[in-house]
Amino acid sequence: MQSTHKILVLRGDGIGPEIMTAAITVLRSIEARFQCGSFELIEGLIGGVAIDKMGVPLPEETLALAKECDAILMAAVGDTQYDKLDPAIRPEKGLLQIRKALGLFANLRPVKGFVGATGGAPLKADRIENVDLLVVRELTGGIYFGDPRMRTGEGPTEKAIDTMVYTRAEIEQILRIAFEAAQTRRKHVTSVDKANVLASSQLWRDVADEISSDYPDVTLTHLYVDNAAMQLVVNPKQFDVLVTGNLFGDILSDEASVLIGSLGMLPSASLGKKVQDHQAKGNLLKMPALYEPAHGSAPSLKGKNEANPIAQILSVALMLGQSFGYHQEAAAISTAIQSVLDTGYRTADIASENSKICGTDEMANRIASEIGRQ
Ligand code: IPM
Ligand code: MG
Repeated sequence: MQSTHKILVLRGDGIGPEIMTAAITVLRSIEARFQCGSFELIEGLIGGVAIDKMGVPLPEETLALAKECDAILMAAVGDTQYDKLDPAIRPEKGLLQIRKALGLFANLRPVKGFVGATGGAPLKADRIENVDLLVVRELTGGIYFGDPRMRTGEGPTEKAIDTMVYTRAEIEQILRIAFEAAQTRRKHVTSVDKANVLASSQLWRDVADEISSDYPDVTLTHLYVDNAAMQLVVNPKQFDVLVTGNLFGDILSDEASVLIGSLGMLPSASLGKKVQDHQAKGNLLKMPALYEPAHGSAPSLKGKNEANPIAQILSVALMLGQSFGYHQEAAAISTAIQSVLDTGYRTADIASENSKICGTDEMANRIASEIGRQ
């Protein structure tokens, strides 16, 4: 008997609902075409929509559902009307809370372009063609979560404090993810820090050096984050796996998305410890991992059917591969995306001269039909 996989669907705000609808169209086409299990989709609230309906960005009900499901597929949170709220209750807080509550410390952002999708990219074609790198971003520590975090006083002495803190254990677990990923790729890790200034980065660098001896087949290079930001656009092909802390990873992954044409093309997988342990044993996963595009909710595009759904659709592919072991199905999604791009269709963000511009729904429908034809 085929299994049923329970997926928590979190549409969120802005373009979230429409790119999620697009991704579900593609997921249903996979279900129809392949002998994989079926997918039971359970809808939950997070972000601004949760604030409106429940008063908080991550309702307890959502977290409880998340723990019961096999995987979480999320779109994006945030909208302009919440910008004035206290940061402690903003939509983005819901995303940070669910990552932390599920222990999703490893955020993988594969930066791999599709042929012909970068025609509208601002970088020179010879620099970016065949770029294939993986950003491994630490996701539940660093300055995003450090204490103290506060704002006090008034007048010229009013001050605000954020704390960048990492423990040896946190650094070690994310670096091991990076080294293990590199072993399945081109066997090179670039660890990015600011060790010429920050104590947390000095510890990061020491830990990276220490554990690298456990991976003799992988070479390790250190880069300061300012240099890494430059190298990413000057010579991106030097990178295989790039591992870094929460804040640097947030910034560098947006930058890296330019290498593949648009932030609308960059998916992500956020994995926790048990997920990794299960993977190591070759079993299917028990702990839910979370899959979401690396981009935000793009409020200015909301409801216009113009947003690029490909990062969300690729997040479905990551989910199929990582959480369910459906590698053939995941590959089918990438192949279908390439086929649609080959026929000249593009959403506006990746369009260049001679592109046939299409909307969110049409892009998804075309990808789904290609899957049906495979
Ligand atoms: C991301 C986003 C989030 C982050 C925001 C929405 C809180 O930018 O996933 O990269 O900073 O982690
Ligand atoms: Mg970001």
